[in-house]
Amino acid sequence: MTAPTVAQRAHAVVVGSGIAGLTVALHAVEHGCRVTLVTKDVLEHANTRYAQGGIAGVMFDDDRTADHERDTLTAGAGLADPEAVRVLVEEGPARIRELIDLGVGFDRGADGDFVKGLEAAHSYPRILHAGGDATGTAIEKALVARLRASRVRVVEHAFLIDLVLTDGRVTGVDLLVEDEHRERVEADAIVLATGGAGELYAHSTNPAVATGDGIAAAIRAGAAVADLEFFQFHPTVLAVGDSFLVSEAVRGEGATLVDEHGRRFAFDAHPDGELAPRDVVSRAIAQQMEAQDGRPVFLDATVLRPTYDERRAFLARRFPTIDRAVRDRGLDWAAAPIPVTPAAHYLMGGVVTDLFGRTTLPGLYAVGEVARTGVHGANRLASNSLLEGAVFGARAGDVIASDAATGIWPATEGFAAPVARPAPATDAAAAAAFSRAALQELLWEDAGLVRDETGLGRAAGVLATWRAQPREPRTEHDFEDENLLLLAVRLVDAARERRESVGAHHRRDAGQSENAGRGIPSSTALRQEALAC
Ligand code: SIN
Repeated sequence: MTAPTVAQRAHAVVVGSGIAGLTVALHAVEHGCRVTLVTKDVLEHANTRYAQGGIAGVMFDDDRTADHERDTLTAGAGLADPEAVRVLVEEGPARIRELIDLGVGFDRGADGDFVKGLEAAHSYPRILHAGGDATGTAIEKALVARLRASRVRVVEHAFLIDLVLTDGRVTGVDLLVEDEHRERVEADAIVLATGGAGELYAHSTNPAVATGDGIAAAIRAGAAVADLEFFQFHPTVLAVGDSFLVSEAVRGEGATLVDEHGRRFAFDAHPDGELAPRDVVSRAIAQQMEAQDGRPVFLDATVLRPTYDERRAFLARRFPTIDRAVRDRGLDWAAAPIPVTPAAHYLMGGVVTDLFGRTTLPGLYAVGEVARTGVHGANRLASNSLLEGAVFGARAGDVIASDAATGIWPATEGFAAPVARPAPATDAAAAAAFSRAALQELLWEDAGLVRDETGLGRAAGVLATWRAQPREPRTEHDFEDENLLLLAVRLVDAARERRESVGAHHRRDAGQSENAGRGIPSSTALRQEALAC
């Protein structure tokens, strides 16, 4: 028997079970790593499952990589990293084909070809979707099935408390298992794939598991983070009940946004109207809502087909998940426009990485929403997030074994000092002043879709008081609260530092950045031009 190679001996712990975590685990195991995947809930319960619209990629002969690249850069408001974007769009199609090989059944038309989906700020309808509006569920299911059949060891209900550092290198994780006992798992490489932090806000499209655990652990360990001021707000969630996402694909099909008097208003803000970049549409809605004393605007799907019966059938077939949610709330969107409002959706910033997921700490990788590759700049293009998880998850999974073989664990450049946990409060009343709901309201009001120094300064003051008198974390929920608080502090600091409006970071007390990149031709014009050719 031959001795195992260095690569075969390398043990990678992947934290998180969305598209990025599952992909990195499957690729690393293929390269001979021993892989343990830990997740704080069950495998299937990650943000990926809730993705409706689809996955963007150049999959049609008449589409061009250069166009997907330009659309991504434009949506990113001039701040996306061109190298990261090139990697995303060039490697995307191979990753999508990998998903197809795994059994993801992207929707096809009667001719057998994939159905083309259009979403905002795309100059070509390059979005593939599955189950109509259940793309994330289809992808998660296929990846989980493959993972369960692989050699990856799965540990569910294990919460990441902290990263373990030895001589400046990340060598393990401390976990809270089943909300009961602590366990340390040592590894050669740790991959954060813990997703975003929608729980920072009172209104969010994210599931409750999105509490920024990976970013907070990375900050405490001393990994560099960036761009936390760029939090994307999705333009349309149902304004009835909880914040149920109504996919941008609905507007891609032609649904319009109207004010409470039935007037289309999105063209006042941008020549692409309802299909302008997400940050622009969200702000246009917020502005319109302000003008109507906070009352929601309306998404009009009645324009999609001429008769009620045709509309009803179309909406149920094309958007079955949303259709059910709409009807469950007592609304009939085939008959009348439905009330919608923006909600927190996606964090563009995160743990700084190179294009292989390597962070500034040797041995630590980050992929997917937790990472800041620079691919999204100041505003993510629709349906690029599943693609990001697949592309950069695969890249990290492909290099861990060879990084291990070098014995030096290459890291990306950058420095941040570790952040110690504040000592628990001696004053129980002060500690009790904090609640997750209060934090969510504070950020929604003072560090939301539109900000200014007065609100941000107020938020910073309240957060500092809470952080100076923390409760001692014991349960998973307590640790999540601690993570949200740390992240909120960093987000507000970053938002105060950026004294300009760019992409998703909009300050009512500052002008638009020179760098905002909004002089570029509209995606609608480009689409029409392409059709004319
Ligand atoms: C949506 O379906 O509108 C959300 C897709 C995305 O976040 O890219």
